[in-house]
Amino acid sequence: MGKLAITGGKPVRKKPFAAWPVYSQDEARGLQRVLASRNWGGFPFPNKIADTFAQKFARFHRAKYGMAVANGTVAIEIALKAAGIKPRDEVIVPAYTWEGTVGPVLLLNAVPVFVDIDPETYCLDARLIEAAVTPKTRVILPVHLAMRFADLDEICRIAKAHNLVVIEDCAHAHGGKWRSKGAGATGDLGCFSFQSSKLMTAGEGGGIITSNPEFYERAQSYTNCGRASATDRFQHRLIGFNYRITELQAVILDAQLKRLPKQAKVRQANMDHIEKRLRGTPGLAFLKKDKRQTRTAAYQFVFKYLPEYFGGIPRAAVLGALQMEGIPCDGLFYEPVYRSALFHVDPCEWPALSCGRKKPLDLKTSFHCPVSERAAYEEAIWLPHHIFLGSKKDTDDIADAVLKVCANIEELRGLKHPAIEVKAMGRAERPRIEKRQW
Ligand SMILES: Cc1ncc(COP(=O)(O)O)c(C=O)c1O
Repeated sequence: MGKLAITGGKPVRKKPFAAWPVYSQDEARGLQRVLASRNWGGFPFPNKIADTFAQKFARFHRAKYGMAVANGTVAIEIALKAAGIKPRDEVIVPAYTWEGTVGPVLLLNAVPVFVDIDPETYCLDARLIEAAVTPKTRVILPVHLAMRFADLDEICRIAKAHNLVVIEDCAHAHGGKWRSKGAGATGDLGCFSFQSSKLMTAGEGGGIITSNPEFYERAQSYTNCGRASATDRFQHRLIGFNYRITELQAVILDAQLKRLPKQAKVRQANMDHIEKRLRGTPGLAFLKKDKRQTRTAAYQFVFKYLPEYFGGIPRAAVLGALQMEGIPCDGLFYEPVYRSALFHVDPCEWPALSCGRKKPLDLKTSFHCPVSERAAYEEAIWLPHHIFLGSKKDTDDIADAVLKVCANIEELRGLKHPAIEVKAMGRAERPRIEKRQW
């Protein structure tokens, strides 16, 4: 019997952490009000509660206009369409992100161009963007990942120089700020997700913010089956779809937005505390803070496990051990999208990858992004934000568990255990065996 829970020792923690999602009478009363109104849907668009929430959400991030939509994936599709993406245009995306950042690019018959991430932030490496720009590039789509921002100063400078649109994927960044401007408000458009795991949620949902009235009008038409927006200054006509959100979701999001700043403070204090406790531990490293990021939105606490320091003991073993100590955690949270089992991309199915080319473009083999690959398969440890919504003592349990695993890591050498097997699985395989997390 060892010291670690995975080898038979006593776990650091048996108690569950703070429950997620959080709700109160605010959500309950709001839902009751919408039910009683019998005005549940998104039509006529924008419906009242959804529109009031969306404008508040935009102002909160210092953008002029906001829209609430069905989810974060369609938010990206709508933003690309609003920006005027045409077939075979190219969109620069970070390799290390959720597949939902990239799928909409293909759906609009455009071409994703994967660029590696900065090892200091795990976000799109702005130093590599210019080499990926071609005459077909139309959009740069940075993702503010987990708890950091991509370098928006440099991204906007490049965009300006090459006449490109910047769409920020802010699915992790509700309430975060870059140079005192909210996430999504520095680029041309910002896209948010309100899916269950996110910092604000209505179970599902998405948001778009912009200060460009033309993009705003096009986004509205695309979301509302092609109908003209109420203002219709630019008179664009296009085929649209029904990507509307319901009033039931919007009323929940309104309550969630009110709660967000307070929760952000608690999370931040606890994440600062854990970093202080873990800093200096040999074999662990931390993402760099950037002073230009004036408020952190922390979707997950992400840090680095350096396997070479621990004689090659794989990250999955450490994560399995941490989970058995009572700490929810993940490693293969994202993969470089071009390598992900969730990215079944057959060039014959996506015309932009085959039509007019001598040879179809094989996205799976055309890119190699070593920093993304290392983060995904060896190094990154992701701890969900809700476990930092509790007390300092909860956070101390997390730090104690990490330190305990590091101190007794030799117990993991060569160990086989179901908890380790789960942690070695990618997102495509896991649903078969995993319980609902959110
Ligand atoms: C970085 C990123 N982009 C886009 C999305 C898509 O959002 P949704 O799940 O609401 O469609 C997500 C959600 O998981 C995400 O994490």
